[in-house]
Amino acid sequence: MADLILGQVLTFTGDPFAEGLAAARHLRHGAVLVEHGRIAAIGESAVLRATHPAARVTDYGQHLISAGFIDAHVHYPQTAIIASWGKRLIDWLNSYTFPEEMRFADPAYAGAVAERYCELTLANGTTSFCSYATIHPESVDAIFTAAQAQGQRVWAGKTCMDRNAPEGLRDTAQTAYDDSKRLLARWHGVGRLSYVITPRFSPTSTPDQLAALGALWAENPSCLMQTHLSEQTDEIDWVKSLFPAARDYLDTYEAHGLLGKGGLYGHAIHLTEREKARLAEVDASLIHCPTSNTFIGSGLFDMGGLKAAGHRIGLATDTGGGSSFSMLRTMAAAYEVGQLRGRALHPAELWWLATAGSAQALHAADCIGTIAPGMEADLVVIDLASTAAIEQATRRADDIWQAIFPTIMMGDDRAIHATWVGGKPTAR
Ligand code: GUN
Ligand code: ZN
Repeated sequence: MADLILGQVLTFTGDPFAEGLAAARHLRHGAVLVEHGRIAAIGESAVLRATHPAARVTDYGQHLISAGFIDAHVHYPQTAIIASWGKRLIDWLNSYTFPEEMRFADPAYAGAVAERYCELTLANGTTSFCSYATIHPESVDAIFTAAQAQGQRVWAGKTCMDRNAPEGLRDTAQTAYDDSKRLLARWHGVGRLSYVITPRFSPTSTPDQLAALGALWAENPSCLMQTHLSEQTDEIDWVKSLFPAARDYLDTYEAHGLLGKGGLYGHAIHLTEREKARLAEVDASLIHCPTSNTFIGSGLFDMGGLKAAGHRIGLATDTGGGSSFSMLRTMAAAYEVGQLRGRALHPAELWWLATAGSAQALHAADCIGTIAPGMEADLVVIDLASTAAIEQATRRADDIWQAIFPTIMMGDDRAIHATWVGGKPTAR
């Protein structure tokens, strides 16, 4: 049976960074028709009600219906160590992250955290995410199994590390290749799941391992590849000492077949001019993780400059280096980072980044990230007056952007009134 969902509707027909507000479509009394898990129509409520009288109606009143949020870079295994105090990147990895990731050798533990993570994402209106697992193949099975149960469109991959990580958290060039290949064959393209080739970052992979994963990517070009790039200056110095022949950090990937369209480069803060030019030339995706960049003290991503230069950019929490599971909180942090760089991001730009922008970064804009006929029906329904503080700040709003901005800046999971995945409302 078809579902007709009523409320305010917000979506994008283009990129507001390039086209301004003409890229946004807002319907004050809108409707979304959902059939067989996909969006069949979007339009004025009165029109769709008249043309689809048999549809089951869910009326969300003044709540805002948007494409579900898409989190383009997360570490689901770091769910339990989110908000760990006092460390910068390398110490944070050694003190908190690696000991926690060690626990994923136990499939029962991996399964429990994976389920918890999927529940947390849905409570925050996130219908898709792209996650690192741990080095343990079972940790990939765990997150795909949990996502499959919820029906979410999810990307994930086995994190590969063969040096500078503790005993018990290292693979080899060969086992990284073999395990990734086996997992890819098992999961890539199964339902809404996609495998991502995942070298953690250059400091934890030997050149041999990077080359092996570069070869695997060349053999499987329909896969995305994710890694980290130029997050902290100490990390960049470390990469220089480990790869003395490399021109720069990006070159450590490029030299091993790990630079290309379909490559997702997390953080990308301290880039040289050559790195920026190469990333743009190959149309790689840069993933901005603003709560992580302030929490771990990494630096300020240059959204204005990189968008103006034509880079493909997604938005992400980077849980648990990031300090939130919420894409609303992440938009707020992106706004604050933009302010510190002298570029106030418009609410339309922030919302686009969390939906259509991340979908483009993941090369999935043909199926998720916007509300249009044929798209998969992943939706979030937002209460734009979810707390007393937000409600009073929106009372004088003249347009959707003024009405939405207090929720961007102050909203949390209380603003998530409902989340639809694959055409079905999720239980709350
Ligand atoms: N660089 C390498 N691994 C990680 C990680 O787990 N989190 C963050 N923020 N940066 C990294
Ligand atoms: Zn990360």
